[in-house]
Amino acid sequence: DKGDFKHFMAKEIEEQPTTLKNCINEYVDKINNDINIYNFPWNIKEISSVTLIGCGTAYHSCLMAKYWFEENTTLEVTIDIASEFRYRKNRFKDDNLYIFVSQSGETADTYAALDLCNKNNMKTCSVVNVIESSIARDSNFVLPIHCGQEIGVASTKAFMGQMLVLYILVLKLGILRKDLDKDLYLNKIKDLKLLPKLVEQTLLTESKIQTVSSSFTDAKGSMFLGRGFSYPIALEGALKLKELAYVHAEGYPAGEMKHGPLALIEDGMPVVVLAPRDNYYKKTISNMQEVIARGAKVLLITNKSKDEVFSENIWETVLVESANDDLLPFLLTVPLQKLAYYSALKKGYDIDKPRNLAKSVTVE
Ligand code: M6R
Repeated sequence: DKGDFKHFMAKEIEEQPTTLKNCINEYVDKINNDINIYNFPWNIKEISSVTLIGCGTAYHSCLMAKYWFEENTTLEVTIDIASEFRYRKNRFKDDNLYIFVSQSGETADTYAALDLCNKNNMKTCSVVNVIESSIARDSNFVLPIHCGQEIGVASTKAFMGQMLVLYILVLKLGILRKDLDKDLYLNKIKDLKLLPKLVEQTLLTESKIQTVSSSFTDAKGSMFLGRGFSYPIALEGALKLKELAYVHAEGYPAGEMKHGPLALIEDGMPVVVLAPRDNYYKKTISNMQEVIARGAKVLLITNKSKDEVFSENIWETVLVESANDDLLPFLLTVPLQKLAYYSALKKGYDIDKPRNLAKSVTVE
């Protein structure tokens, strides 16, 4: 039931503060500021590296998790697109944990990658929404994302849920391995408890996004740039826009522009720059200036701060809430979901069922 919403997607975006909260309640012991992951089937010493595998949006949450794993643990991390992984000559390693991320739990390529790992007697874990799915059933261990049924083909609350569960896993492995200092761990959990509220406040960026969205639908193409923690979100923002508004959108690491894509920039081209005030801020702002100098119309998405942004000629700025660096990706995601939603709405497209796509891709 869509309730008062026009589309399931709109409803699922607005539900995010609640779904995140529900998921935090499942995993976080709020009194002791600890994370509970029950029945983890392996001894922590048996794991020295991690491989995360998924498709589409789920792959983007794998990429996000790589940054968090590297920041908060000493584990070696690789990520893979399921349709690539399944046909490569992989080096299977006994001390590696294979994590499969899938909303539906039925994606054919992700299942095939899991099956391959199972046949090689690897340690398999899945991060799913649908717990009675094939991927959940056939993996050694399941971490549900607890976000409720997702109906819109474009994944929104499930993406947030995947990121959340992966982040929770990162923190837990970080403390168990003693990679994370106890105080830092406690602080990160305290911050995490504030996330639903911060997402709720960030949902209010609505009207500005609605206004700028027509520039994206009218353009030949657009780019989404970010560095570090913001790079996976840039990819996800571009995917959402392609999928829903049927316009070309490219997600790119901001630092790669000079190696080719800068040639695409022409007068009036809309470019989203994700530049929260983390360690990458200055670098990303200088990349932003380079695209502005070539005529790009920049929509800057950053977080609220006392300092002004040092740059002129920014077309529009959207401010998300502030949070610790680990949590900024969740907040940056919200305006990008809305951007894709309003762009598709302006064109009158079928938002919950974009052309040529299915919610669950059960054939390769
Ligand atoms: O059910 P899954 O999470 O395995 O689905 C993977 C992708 O097909 C899915 O995330 C797809 O990219 C979304 N439609 C993107 O919004």
